[in-house]
Amino acid sequence: MRLDKFLADMGYGSRKEVKGYIKKGRVTVNDQTIKSDKAQVNEQTDRICFDQELIHYQRWYYYLLHKPAGVISATVDSYEDTVLDLFSEEDFREDLFPVGRLDKDTEGFLLITNDGGLAHQLLSPKKHVEKEYYAQVDGIMTAADQTIFEKGVQLDGEWTLPAQLTIIGVDQAEGTSEIRLILHEGKFHQVKRMVHAVGKEVRYLKRIRMGGLALPADLPVGSYRPLTADELTALAQPKE
Ligand code: URA
Repeated sequence: MRLDKFLADMGYGSRKEVKGYIKKGRVTVNDQTIKSDKAQVNEQTDRICFDQELIHYQRWYYYLLHKPAGVISATVDSYEDTVLDLFSEEDFREDLFPVGRLDKDTEGFLLITNDGGLAHQLLSPKKHVEKEYYAQVDGIMTAADQTIFEKGVQLDGEWTLPAQLTIIGVDQAEGTSEIRLILHEGKFHQVKRMVHAVGKEVRYLKRIRMGGLALPADLPVGSYRPLTADELTALAQPKE
């Protein structure tokens, strides 16, 4: 890889900025000052330093974001705030993207990464990575709804995979319910449309788990943190 690309990828500045740093002699490769931005480096084996500090190479980035309502699951948008606008200047990278979409008004677990392979694995219905949601519903959810969801629901002519509905509680006087729903795919507005299909409406929705990784209780709404290697493994766990 070219030295200037390496430095830009590692967050040391734009391609133009890092070329300037290289020309000024701020970069060494295996203890030799290199002043050519076109120099090729092996990012795995070369010792590349910036201002004498060793750069630890990292190719893939994985962050768990507790998405707040009011931001959209996109990388850029001219009008709306996106989930990437929540990132600090230090952590932001051009190649980060959200894995799948949560609606603007949905909160909860959202993985942000630059690893397209993992994203594909997590979203493919064939991999059976579960997505679990907590919802507050206008209307009384019933055991009959559990059976319907377990068989699959037709949404605009397309059948959903079986989904597991847990009724946490119902308030008969208010006519509301609290539920958890486990999905094995991610169709557009799927939870809201499934609930609508049985005659009720979701009024609050939060994703609380993906694969074997629950949204950590100590991660405040609107914040994010890198995933540990163990968490990453847990996340990609297929259904048992
Ligand atoms: N289902 C929905 O309806 N909305 C989401 O944001 C996620 C799942």
